[in-house]
Amino acid sequence: MPLLLAALAAMAALAFAAHPSCSPGPDPSATCVDLHLRTCADAAYNHTSFPTPLEHRSWEAVESSPEYMLLGVLHFLLEGQCNPDLRLLGCSVLAPRCEGGHIQRPCRHVCEGLREACQPAFDAIDMAWPYFLDCAQYFAPEEEGCYDPLEQLRGELDVEEALPSGLPPTFIRFAHHSYAQMVRVLKRTAARCSQVAKMYSIGRSFEGKDLVVIEFSSRPGQHELMEPEVKLIGNIHGNEVAGREMLIYLAQYLCSEYLLGNARIQRLLNTTRIHLLPSMNPDGYEVAAAEGAGYNGWTSGRQNAQNLDLNRNFPDLTSEYYRLASTRGVRTDHISISQYYWWGKVAPETKAIMKWIQTIPFVLSASLHGGDLVVSYPFDFSKHPHEEKMFSPTPDEKMFKLLARAYADVHPMMMDRSENRCGGNFLKRGSIINGADWYSFTGGMSDFNYLHTNCFEITVELGCVKFPPEEALYGLWQHNKEPLLNFLEMVHRGIKGVVTDKYGKPVKNARILVKGIRHDVTTGLLETPSPGFPYRHCSSPRLLQGNEENHHSLAHEEGRPRGLHPPASGDRT
Ligand SMILES: *[C@@H]1O[C@H](CO)[C@@H](O)[C@H](O)[C@H]1NC(C)=O
Ligand SMILES: *[C@@H]1O[C@H](CO)[C@@H](O)[C@H](O)[C@H]1NC(C)=O
Repeated sequence: MPLLLAALAAMAALAFAAHPSCSPGPDPSATCVDLHLRTCADAAYNHTSFPTPLEHRSWEAVESSPEYMLLGVLHFLLEGQCNPDLRLLGCSVLAPRCEGGHIQRPCRHVCEGLREACQPAFDAIDMAWPYFLDCAQYFAPEEEGCYDPLEQLRGELDVEEALPSGLPPTFIRFAHHSYAQMVRVLKRTAARCSQVAKMYSIGRSFEGKDLVVIEFSSRPGQHELMEPEVKLIGNIHGNEVAGREMLIYLAQYLCSEYLLGNARIQRLLNTTRIHLLPSMNPDGYEVAAAEGAGYNGWTSGRQNAQNLDLNRNFPDLTSEYYRLASTRGVRTDHISISQYYWWGKVAPETKAIMKWIQTIPFVLSASLHGGDLVVSYPFDFSKHPHEEKMFSPTPDEKMFKLLARAYADVHPMMMDRSENRCGGNFLKRGSIINGADWYSFTGGMSDFNYLHTNCFEITVELGCVKFPPEEALYGLWQHNKEPLLNFLEMVHRGIKGVVTDKYGKPVKNARILVKGIRHDVTTGLLETPSPGFPYRHCSSPRLLQGNEENHHSLAHEEGRPRGLHPPASGDRT
């Protein structure tokens, strides 16, 4: 099959290289004939007309064309992505809609939106966007009158997804989402908010499911200078499903509120690049979901399909940190991964996350778990390897506490002093705890984020039930919405700026010393843009022991910083 597909793709590519001669716009008055093309059986219309915009004059000509053949296999080539949207888009060109003796042209903005959304899928297989889906040539601008060839995908939901009639598209369905439903909701959300949202995949699970991310930003797909990057990850343990649902709801909420003109959400999206990965372990989720809410055991579905616990699968840089930290003056940020790590079993999900955080300069992150009600923060691995419970702070203890509190303090159940709350053991501490003080483990994602890239990641335990019943989901959303937003907004605390030399030229790599500011304002974003060199960021003000100085450091040192623009004082909060 793959061989055949490759051959087809090659053939299609060849055929497409030869553009047809300039195609005239379709004749507006035409003879409508019944549409019968297998690949287009689910199109929203019944009649088409010849010749088609591709100059095909008969069914035989259409069916034997490389364009039609490609349309039939595109979903294989793209591994299910952009399906059936692309196929229907293709049908609108190959078999143009004909109504009452007139050809109807498909809308250009629909084509452009889909092209934007699907480009990464094409890039991933090194394939060009098919010429016959050229939005400028075969699609009409709205002023000229056009129809939406994907209309039925927007309006006609799965029976189980169907909304009670009369509800606006802003309606969020507070239910569990299967993998297909999750992808669909995210896709639809990205399409609805295409100016500020985009869906992409960071890789695949062991069983081949895309690890889909929805991104919100004023310029989706691009890192913008001084616009901090933040990520939220759910469902790292496949059976801890509340985080997955919270992020699916959050995506819809952000999109709707942005469109409705909610000033807080607009400000957040205009100034921040937010990435949501609702499910880091979609394979484990399937196992847990098969047992179902109320029946799912404490551990089934926790691991990925290789039986690896993803939150134990990251490189242990914490041991390395403890070793380095005992030597005065040694750098302890951006610790590299030992080659021995790769000799062990590394899950594809873990690899995908590692690549993701190495590519995008995240400064803030949260991983959403279930099983208790508390926010924990690094280190997760105890400073004494044999101590199972030992307070093991990072040099950024105060900042981490502040971040954890930004979540817990506005969470009504985490702050509930009555007997209502579950867990309970953390109430005295304000529902936050140092990870290793709770229980120590190695290979966790948070320690790795912090030590390898300076991204600050907290771990949120959303509640005591790992697989809550559907009725509980709305309440969970109500409790976690404000904490999630409040946490996202924390990314704007602290110092932000570009390090330049005395001529105003950005310095590639710099180490910054910041004097005399409070510990809780120092997390920030420093950037050193330079062509051909990836942005590195710094969010980690490692407090220097015993004095008021904090220093920021970047990946490598090179050049001497001469200024910090805008001045540090400008961004204090
Ligand atoms: C297609 O044709 C059938 C039979 O003529 C009709 O029942 C159906 O409603 C038509 N569908 C559309 C989308 O026009
Ligand atoms: C966010 O950006 C959009 C588009 O540029 C603009 O229309 C809107 O007013 C901005 N809103 C806020 C609150 O900054």
